Amino acid sequence: MEKLIITGKTPLKGEVTISGAKNAAVAIIPATLLINGTCTIENLPNISDVKLYCDILKELGAKITWHSEHEVTINTTNINAHNIPLDTTRKFRASYYLLGALLGRCKYAQVGSPGGCNLGARPIDQHIKSFEALGASVDVSNGNITATAKKLKGTSIYMDVVSVGATINAMLASVLAEGTTVIDNAAKEPHIVDVANFLNTMGADIRGAGTDIIKVNGVKELKGNATYSVVPDQIEAGTFMIAAIASKGDIIVKNCITKHLESIIAKIIEVGGNVDANGDHLRVWYDKKTHKATIKTLPYPGFPTDLQPQMGVLLSISEGTSIINESIWDSRFQYTAELNKMGAHITSQGKTAVFEGVKNLTAAPVYATDLRAGAALIIAGIIANGKTEIYHLNHIDRGYENIEEKFRKLGAKIERVEE
Ligand code: EPZ
Repeated sequence: MEKLIITGKTPLKGEVTISGAKNAAVAIIPATLLINGTCTIENLPNISDVKLYCDILKELGAKITWHSEHEVTINTTNINAHNIPLDTTRKFRASYYLLGALLGRCKYAQVGSPGGCNLGARPIDQHIKSFEALGASVDVSNGNITATAKKLKGTSIYMDVVSVGATINAMLASVLAEGTTVIDNAAKEPHIVDVANFLNTMGADIRGAGTDIIKVNGVKELKGNATYSVVPDQIEAGTFMIAAIASKGDIIVKNCITKHLESIIAKIIEVGGNVDANGDHLRVWYDKKTHKATIKTLPYPGFPTDLQPQMGVLLSISEGTSIINESIWDSRFQYTAELNKMGAHITSQGKTAVFEGVKNLTAAPVYATDLRAGAALIIAGIIANGKTEIYHLNHIDRGYENIEEKFRKLGAKIERVEE
């Protein structure tokens, strides 16, 4: 088992370049199943979820050619399987996109239930409702989800909750359907727009992505033969921005889209940090004590749940009493128990946590309970007195490319060791 050892109290200084967005990449790769031909994807993050997804496509008959760790050509002309076993799908959440993509292409998919971070209940009723509205029959039994259709027909789908996964799955299943599909109350995250842009580049006709009504005009075929570059990861950018302020540092975050970071920039400035945007670069720096804030996580353009744990670390050392209300996931405060081991004063109950700011955190052995909790603990280790050990790195490796290398370049004393 590997662990990270971080010797803390280092202000971060220097430049960091943001990788392609994980949550866009893990939707775009299965979306290639809708293409009858070849496409090239650039700016892929070098993370284990991306590798795993490409391996799954290979099993289904796709030809995968890596040009570098960030660029791959995928040929999906000869897809010859439609079943993905539970052992594979439970390794990550985004396996649910295989349902929409295979249903769209082959009118049949059998996919094991998705796994992923344990953030509480993660229902997929809105995905299933969308497939059924398009004309599919869906059966959930023995750990598998099976969707079958004679044909898929454009329709109106109203999402009862704003869901990233269900919005993307509804797009995937309707791209090749007959007629027009209207997805109402759609999610608006940058990765929704990225998947729509990718599919449109390959020959789809999707309009309105990024608003709450998406219109998909079904086309007969996606020919592909094009290259697409994945959008920068707004959550990775936000993670480094928060780390810069928490560590009393001064960094430049390169390759980011400022528009995607508005809610994060606003909160960083509200607690007393500084941000200066210049094209695709951001300077983020500390020059005075940070103070309390109230945060409610919301779908985009609200404050993202995927930055809630990282922001929790900053609030745990900010003056005053802060409150975070987590409105997306039932169980995203597991990291607070780990932070309390490091001297934080956090009380969480249900979807609310109260942070009484302390002066310092002190090192302790801690466990990454999920991906973003792991990132939060790295920030905690960088600002704490002493040597912090972080375990369960598999969660972190699923979603951050070379995270310790990137922090090390910013001056953090961080190393990965085999136990
Ligand atoms: C995506 O998960 C992300 N994962 C998550 O990223 C992120 O936390 C989440 O969106 C919210 O932004 C990927 O993109 C692979 P949802 P997803 O469907 O699609 C409820 C990370 O750290 N809901 O938008 O699974 C659900 O319970 C992570 O990178 C239903 O009720 O999230 C939740 O309360 C983890 N029924 C809310 O909607 C459904 O059918 C939003 O979930 C679907 C969702």
